[in-house]
Amino acid sequence: MRTHVSAPYSQGKHGLACDGVALAAIAHDVGTPVFVYSAQAIRDAYTGIDRAFADYPHAIHYALKANSTLALLRLLRGLGSRADANSGGEIRVAFRAGFGPADIVFTGVGKTRDELEFAVAQDVGTINAESPGELDRIAAVAAAAGRTARVALRVNPDIDAKTHANISTGLRINKFGVALEDARAIYRDRRDVKGLRFTGVHVHIGSQITSAEPLQRAAHALAGIAIELRDDGVPLEHVDLGGGLGIPYEGQPMIAPSEYAAAVLPALRRCGLPVVLEPGRAIVGRSGALVSRVVDTKQNPDGRRFAVLDAGMTELMRPALYGSYHRIEPVEPRQAAVSQWDIVGPICESSDAFGRERDMPLLEVGDLVAVLDTGAYGAVMGSNYNRRLLSPEVLVDDGAWTVIRRRQTLDDVLALES
Ligand code: LLP
Repeated sequence: MRTHVSAPYSQGKHGLACDGVALAAIAHDVGTPVFVYSAQAIRDAYTGIDRAFADYPHAIHYALKANSTLALLRLLRGLGSRADANSGGEIRVAFRAGFGPADIVFTGVGKTRDELEFAVAQDVGTINAESPGELDRIAAVAAAAGRTARVALRVNPDIDAKTHANISTGLRINKFGVALEDARAIYRDRRDVKGLRFTGVHVHIGSQITSAEPLQRAAHALAGIAIELRDDGVPLEHVDLGGGLGIPYEGQPMIAPSEYAAAVLPALRRCGLPVVLEPGRAIVGRSGALVSRVVDTKQNPDGRRFAVLDAGMTELMRPALYGSYHRIEPVEPRQAAVSQWDIVGPICESSDAFGRERDMPLLEVGDLVAVLDTGAYGAVMGSNYNRRLLSPEVLVDDGAWTVIRRRQTLDDVLALES
């Protein structure tokens, strides 16, 4: 039952390679910065979760927000994945990639009227509602369209996911969902409302969760409310556990899919309902590397060395936004002695640094480095700040590689302006 999940990036005789394809060769042809993804790593991660839940009715709705490049979505759809879309844009992208309306859960705080009308008109699988007000707006939109929307209410169980504060979502102080103790009455009061059909209950307590305990507590809360609702005469068809499974950015111990399943399945069995999972990072995170070139090096009088890259927070915002750690590796083999480097980007912001005091061999202008574990929340969070252009993306599969998104051009950007 164990899946073999190999690390996609390893040093070979042509330097750092993705499933055997030299990153230097890709950088040479496509230029830098460039995101590279391993198709095999995505397959392994998806099937790892799918197999862990094999003995229980489940559906994996990959969270598009982690990375929604069409080629990756088509790959995941081919594996049997469904989709978690967080905006009207993500629903449309899911359709483009071949997902059908029934495959989609529409999540997210602050859905606009246009987005709700679109989701209802398209008859998406489930709309995860964030508040009583949103339920009422969905009901109005659906009734006006002569339809019935399938909805799940997102509950906020006040559970500390023990992750970075900026990506914790299951605490009372967070804007997400409705308090667990209010949920029952919200369902009860609306169970006969025209335009609504309650099919599920949803929870998502945060992202980059590294221990099973908070997820286990969330599953218990979810099962508990589903059972109460059944007693109230509001029988549900599924429970939605959200996403959140972390990846080992720093090589730290991580919850394996099997441990995740073992932690949440007892609660799920208690309510007996099929489970929806919305993993994002755990599926694509480890597949990606951001390959970048050193454009300058310098040393301060106090000895601090800087390597300035042609990629920065406009390509990968996570370090600047959350202080998050990403491994950084030289792409070409280097014998020279190891010293400490601050690996920084070219943007005029001091937070624009990928790593501080990292042990690296002597770096020189023109050298390539790879920032690892950048498949999730990397390219999707890119920006045009400083009039920089979005990076291309390359998919490595079975020893070959393809550009799955070309580099943006300044003409692409200026096409929007008068
Ligand atoms: N479901 C919902 C309702 C979510 O809000 C999220 C992520 C997911 C599923 C997927 O979570 P995952 O399995 O990827 O942890 N930009 C941040 C992460 C933000 C996550 C937002 N919500 C980062 O770079 O760490």
